[in-house]
Amino acid sequence: MSASTCIEGVGLGLRSQHYEELLSSRRDVPWLEVLADNYAHGDGLPLRHLDRARALYPVVFHGVGMSLGSTDPLDGDYVAAIRRLARRIEPAWISEHLAWVSAGGRHHHELLPLPFCEEAVGTVAAHVREVQDRLGQRILVENAAGYLRFACSRMSEAEFIAAVVAEADCDLLLDVSNLHVNARNHGYDPLVFLETIPGDRVRQMHLAGYDDHGSHLIDAHGSPVSEATWALFIQVQGRFPGVPTCIEWDRDVPPFAVLAGERTRAAAIVDAAVDAAQREACLAS
Ligand SMILES: [Fe+2]
Repeated sequence: MSASTCIEGVGLGLRSQHYEELLSSRRDVPWLEVLADNYAHGDGLPLRHLDRARALYPVVFHGVGMSLGSTDPLDGDYVAAIRRLARRIEPAWISEHLAWVSAGGRHHHELLPLPFCEEAVGTVAAHVREVQDRLGQRILVENAAGYLRFACSRMSEAEFIAAVVAEADCDLLLDVSNLHVNARNHGYDPLVFLETIPGDRVRQMHLAGYDDHGSHLIDAHGSPVSEATWALFIQVQGRFPGVPTCIEWDRDVPPFAVLAGERTRAAAIVDAAVDAAQREACLAS
C-alpha cells in the first residue's frame, strides 16, 4: 500500500504544544500535516519528534518557503532540504502556497498575493514544474488568502488557479477558510470559484479560523472555524466528497481537546458527504 492511500478523513496540523498528546501514543487522529519548514534545516530534537510522529501516523508535508510566485529563481538549497526530509519521512504528498515570500533576494515572513494574469501563471507554473522535477513527485498548490487585488489582474482567482494547475500539471489543496475569506473580502461567489477550479485535482482541504474585523476578514489561524466556514465546508464536501481535510491552528494554540473537537465536527461532515455520494451512486445504478 502506498503512503498516499493512508490519508483519509480529517487530520490535524502537528504543533509542538501537542507533542505530548499526539506522540506519546496513537490518538484518534488518522493522519498529521507537518510544517516541513520547521524540520528541514536541523538535526536535533524537533526532527526526533517528527520521527516519532511518522512512526505513529501517516504524514503529509505543508510548506511556506518555496516562494512559487517570486520572479527570483527557486532557492535550490531550500528545495534540497525539503527533498532530504521527504526521503526520511516519506510524506504522502507535499503542498505549498500560491504566493510569494521573497523578491530580489529579500525574504519576508508573509505569504504575499499574486496578480491574476498570464505572466504570473507562467512564473508560478515554471517554478512548480521545477520543484516537481527536483522532488520527483507532483505537489499540491494551495489557494492563499489575499488582501489586495492588482489592477493588472485579467482573470479571476479561480481561473488563475485552474491555469496554473493545467500548465504545471500539479494538484490542489483547497483551503476552504481562505476561499471564504477571499470571497467575503473581494466580493465574489465561492460557488462559482468551486465550479471553475479543476475539481478532480483537489486532493486535500484546509479549515482554520479567521479574525473578523467587520469590514474584512483576516486569515489568522488563531480561533475556531467560523460557522460561515462550516456552512461552506458542507457545500464543498457535497461537491468533492471525502477529500482529506486538515484543521490548521497556529496562533494561540488551544488545549488538544479543543482541536480534537474541531476535528470530530469536520469528520462528521466528511462522513455525511461520503454517505450521500454513495446513496446517490446506488440510486443511479
Ligand atoms: Fe491553509
